[in-house]
Amino acid sequence: MSSSASERASRLRAEIGEHDHRYYVLDAPLISDAEYDRLFRELQAIEAEHPELVCSDSPTQRVGAAPLTGFATVAHRTPMLSLNNAFSDDEVAAFDRRVREGLAAEGEVSYVAEPKFDGLAVSLSYEQGVLLRGATRGDGSTGEDVTANLRTLRSIPLHLQGSGWPALLEVRGEVLMWRSDFERMNEQQRQKGEKEFVNPRNAAAGSLRQLDPRITATRPLRFVAYGVGAVAAGVLPATHWALLERLAAWGFAVAAERRRVSGLAALLACQREIGSRRATLPYDIDGVVYKVDELAAQERLGFVSRAPRFALAHKFAAAEALTEVLDIVLQVGRTGALTPVARLAPVFVGGVTVTNATLHNEDEVRRKDVRVGDTVVVRRAGDVIPEIVRVLPEKRPPTATAFVMAASCPVCGSQVVRQQDEAVARCSGGLYCPAQRRQALLHFASRRAMDIEGLGERLVEQLVEHDVVRTPADLYRLGLLALLNLERMADKSAGNLLAAIERSKQTTLARFIYALGIRNVGEATARDLARHFGSLDRLLAADETQLLQVPDVGPIVAQSIRQFLGEPHNREVIEQLRAAGVAWSEGEAVAPAASAPAVAGRSFVLTGTLPSLTRDAARQMLEAAGGKVSAAVSKKTDFVVAGADAGSKLQRAQELGVPIIDEARMLALLGGVEADR
Ligand code: IVH
Repeated sequence: MSSSASERASRLRAEIGEHDHRYYVLDAPLISDAEYDRLFRELQAIEAEHPELVCSDSPTQRVGAAPLTGFATVAHRTPMLSLNNAFSDDEVAAFDRRVREGLAAEGEVSYVAEPKFDGLAVSLSYEQGVLLRGATRGDGSTGEDVTANLRTLRSIPLHLQGSGWPALLEVRGEVLMWRSDFERMNEQQRQKGEKEFVNPRNAAAGSLRQLDPRITATRPLRFVAYGVGAVAAGVLPATHWALLERLAAWGFAVAAERRRVSGLAALLACQREIGSRRATLPYDIDGVVYKVDELAAQERLGFVSRAPRFALAHKFAAAEALTEVLDIVLQVGRTGALTPVARLAPVFVGGVTVTNATLHNEDEVRRKDVRVGDTVVVRRAGDVIPEIVRVLPEKRPPTATAFVMAASCPVCGSQVVRQQDEAVARCSGGLYCPAQRRQALLHFASRRAMDIEGLGERLVEQLVEHDVVRTPADLYRLGLLALLNLERMADKSAGNLLAAIERSKQTTLARFIYALGIRNVGEATARDLARHFGSLDRLLAADETQLLQVPDVGPIVAQSIRQFLGEPHNREVIEQLRAAGVAWSEGEAVAPAASAPAVAGRSFVLTGTLPSLTRDAARQMLEAAGGKVSAAVSKKTDFVVAGADAGSKLQRAQELGVPIIDEARMLALLGGVEADR
């Protein structure tokens, strides 16, 4: 065995451990995913060549275990207790009184307040700083051995960092799924046609109790430490507050929302304050836990039956309530999506008065069978948008009326369309619909469309608000005076903007088509259309069969184009734009997009959720630069672009040794930077 391989391997392990901690615990990564993958693969390669170097706390061994047929049971060294709950201020006052009496305290008692995480409790046993076992709470005395699954969580250190840890240490805490991860995961479940989870808690529980740790490894679980169980051969700090800090130093995430306060009034204020920020926290919480700060005092107070006397969970008010559906109206979103929204008789739920609840889409209304006049259960979950949980059919009046999706847009009157395979109905008004104006104008002016420099979000906002600009054609009628009336608009910038608008008139047919913002028509399709038809008039006259002859135009795209161009308002705007002098040389040979040498002729596969682009947008960008995008990974694939929660394609790429890059790297390639492969 070469000692340099062994040294390199342990250096890599330490480095990867550090990056896991920075990424999953501190939320402050230092390196890109690609660099991380490179370190990881280097370690894998060394370990493959020198199997004797593999050790159980190597990051490569997080997912190592074979599927189980069942979980073994583990007896907890010290029981995992529950907490007494309080729902009112009076109950908290009674708790504080009992604590002061129990401690014969003269003045106010010092407490730590921290969120009550809505996940599931686990206990992690470390011996000599190495993670040996992880178990669920079970009945409090015995739980299930889920070590292999817990090892896949990158926020759980395989060995403790720093120093000063007891030789035996049980770390107690909660396994959670962040709401954003939960939503992304459910989206993927939906796409795969698999079962969705009801909430992050259930998703976390279901993910942790998988018999195959490889499945758990794909689930975005996190661990937060809130205390310790058994401790041997070591000393702990004197207070819970300091203990949390110690846990953080050993490599665990601990609640960022923790407060050290004295006395009842401060406790109640903490619960209100943390409660008010509940919706903005990345994870669900269902109350605030108060703990006597001094550990010696905790010990003196002891336990009654299965709950400590030194701690209390102050729960938030129930976030569900009953109310009546007064009406179901349609809201038009910025992309034309029509969302049915229930107008409700005002009801106080989860700390606010709710008068509206989203019903998401037509199918959802039908599935829940919500009708005007119904009595419903509304829930204000962790997020701010309240929703209808269910209808109470026994309370339905005979006059209750079912919802019907409108045939025309309530804002602009354009036709409402719902495409095959889409849950969402949309207004086809596009450029014309005021609800969609802002979005449409921004897209129209964007760099790859008409490229009107200086026409950004703030300006568009004002132009629409003051009703100066209704359609893109109005942009070409703007005068200096109208602009000078806007906020923060001086002579010079107004002049610059007018010049930019003037310059944009000379464009290409492809840009013009793209700028119209037809659904499903991205840059590449716009270019194909321009190349195929050669003139706008020929495109305007094309029927579905003719559209289908354009390379890469399928029935859905053809239908979008027909719908858009079939709308008289859109035709009008197009005519006004031409009349305003927007022009291109007809029949021009459409110049291909600036082809990026690092991309042109190479083949890509996209997988997972990219941080900023949709996969479709990424595909269009790659294709526009001359790349080829395929669905499956093969030996001929040049790059796999992987985002969060990438699955089998990523694995296949690793098996075949195909270079794996992240979105940032892909953008760099598009920008002309060559990849080292
Ligand atoms: S301390 C002896 N702290 O609440 C005290 N528990 O009812 C033991 N929980 O299953 C628990 N957040 O999973 C503690 N900040 C927190 C907590 C917390 C959530 C859960 C815990 C346990 C349940 C107890």
